[in-house]
Amino acid sequence: MWRERSGRRYFAARDAGITGFSHIGLNSTDPARDELFWTQVCNARVSDRIGDIPLMRVNAIHHTIALVRAPKPGIQHVNHQVECDDDVLRSYYFLSERRVPIVFGPGRHPTSGARFLYFTGPDGMVFEYSVGVDEIEDEATHRPRQFGFEPTSFCMWGSKPAGMALPKKMAFGLRGRTAIVCAASMGLGNRPPNLREKLRSTLSILANAG
Ligand SMILES: [Fe+2]
Repeated sequence: MWRERSGRRYFAARDAGITGFSHIGLNSTDPARDELFWTQVCNARVSDRIGDIPLMRVNAIHHTIALVRAPKPGIQHVNHQVECDDDVLRSYYFLSERRVPIVFGPGRHPTSGARFLYFTGPDGMVFEYSVGVDEIEDEATHRPRQFGFEPTSFCMWGSKPAGMALPKKMAFGLRGRTAIVCAASMGLGNRPPNLREKLRSTLSILANAG
């Protein structure tokens, strides 16, 4: 019998529209140092910068690696491309309904043009679905653009990364970038109250860390 040979068949619960892995955000204790590593050892090129975050490409796609300042190295987020805008918005409603913390979006990056949604998975890992990332058309003439470290540089529609909407004295200042990035990378969404509490204590630890 086929059942005995193949075991239990698997049917996916839904089709998220993923077409493939696209890029990764890496936490870095020193983005400028690591940018040199990627550009001088690994042949990456900087497409744009947001504050001190370099968005780097290894082919025509706008970015495959982003370096985000953080207290320790690690994975900041993992991106998969999806087929179309509908997939991004379908996932927004699907994940929201199941109380999966949405940490950013739906929105659109002014750097790459991609429409996106960030959410947390197991262990607080942040994942991103996006579509429509630009390609660098002319490698010879492209020059990296410098975007300010501010919400509109991350989303041209008005969405803010988790943490950025907090009162200025809590979320900004020298440690603000770290706090925001920590909030997103730790999966501290702005919905469940217990996570909001966790974010507050994280921010106060950072504020007291000097
Ligand atoms: Fe991303």
